[in-house]
Amino acid sequence: MTGEGRSTNSGAVHRRRAAVWSGVGIAVIAVGLMAYDLFYPSRLGPEQHLPFSHRVHVHDKKISCYLCHGAARNSAHAGVPEVETCMLCHAKIIIDYPPIRHLREHYFDSVSIDWDRVTRLPDYAYFNHAMHIRRGIDCGKCHGDVQAMDRVRLPEPITMGFCIRCHREQRASRDCLTCHR
Ligand code: HEC
Ligand code: HEC
Ligand code: HEC
Ligand code: HEC
Ligand code: HEC
Repeated sequence: MTGEGRSTNSGAVHRRRAAVWSGVGIAVIAVGLMAYDLFYPSRLGPEQHLPFSHRVHVHDKKISCYLCHGAARNSAHAGVPEVETCMLCHAKIIIDYPPIRHLREHYFDSVSIDWDRVTRLPDYAYFNHAMHIRRGIDCGKCHGDVQAMDRVRLPEPITMGFCIRCHREQRASRDCLTCHR
């Protein structure tokens, strides 16, 4: 009787300890994931054909957005750079690094790189980069802190409400036909 009671008791203690330890385990994993998210905030962007990192090029190497997205200043589209733009530097820089070897094959075979799009509006909505850039609106207002990203991802979905909110604040047009032509 007593023996039985003790063993049930210690069984309960074991279960409680096990519960406490698994709780600690979950907390450690959660904190780990939060720290990972803090230091690698952009792990969720799509994996590209080549591992291009904005963090390396813009944050570390201080290359201007406009070297690769110069079209944003004077046309509707910002565009993504051709292989020729990469070759301005990678004709000489780290040419034996495997992804750069791959990049150079694209260049010598005249095959452009298919970058997966991250930001795309439906066809019925019209957007124009130059009109916003000329007003001094920073890329980050819509695209987030791209220079911190190894793989580009959108910080929040670009909805009609997102566009309208700023148009209201900045007294830009909210006529339906401005964005639906
Ligand atoms: C203005 C110069 C410049 C241009 C243009 C440029 N890069 Fe780089 N890239 C660098 C430098 C500098 C490094 C760092 C090299 C090192 O670590 O020693 C680098 C590193 C890299 C790396 C290795 C690090 C990483 O990101 O994983 C890859 C891959 C790469 N570049 C791809 C590209 C591609 C693709 C393009 C064209 C879209 C491009 N680069 C355009 C200068 C440039
Ligand atoms: C050395 C060239 C280079 C520079 C400098 C550069 N980019 Fe890019 N950018 C690329 C390439 C290549 C892609 C396509 C691959 C990708 O998504 O990472 C791209 C993609 C993007 C995208 C995603 C496009 C989409 O599909 O939605 C955004 C947004 C962007 N760049 C913004 C910026 C901003 C903002 C800066 C400056 C802070 C910048 N880029 C500087 C080469 C560059
Ligand atoms: C006011 C919001 C806004 C600002 C500011 C902005 N973009 Fe964009 N960007 C967008 C939207 C919306 C799209 C998707 C356009 C579409 O699908 O028609 C886009 C698409 C892109 C793309 C994909 C290729 C393309 O041309 O559509 C790149 C690259 C890009 N932006 C880079 C930049 C850079 C670099 C800057 C700053 C110089 C910038 N953007 C400023 C909203 C913005
Ligand atoms: C951060 C603020 C901001 C955001 C976000 C923004 N806009 Fe704008 N937009 C402006 C301002 C300011 C102007 C006025 C530019 C001018 O008149 O010179 C403008 C002008 C425009 C124009 C040209 C209007 C005309 O008079 O022809 C279009 C089109 C447009 N925006 C579409 C969009 C769309 C679509 C989105 C969302 C994807 C968007 N904008 C998001 C600030 C913004
Ligand atoms: C500043 C730009 C802008 C203006 C002004 C604007 N829209 Fe839009 N609208 C958008 C964008 C961008 C989308 C696509 C959003 C998305 O995919 O979530 C959109 C989507 C829509 C949709 C599809 C919505 C859905 O939920 O599927 C309708 C309908 C629409 N707009 C109607 C209107 C009407 C009516 C007006 C005038 C009262 C208007 N829009 C003014 C930018 C604008």
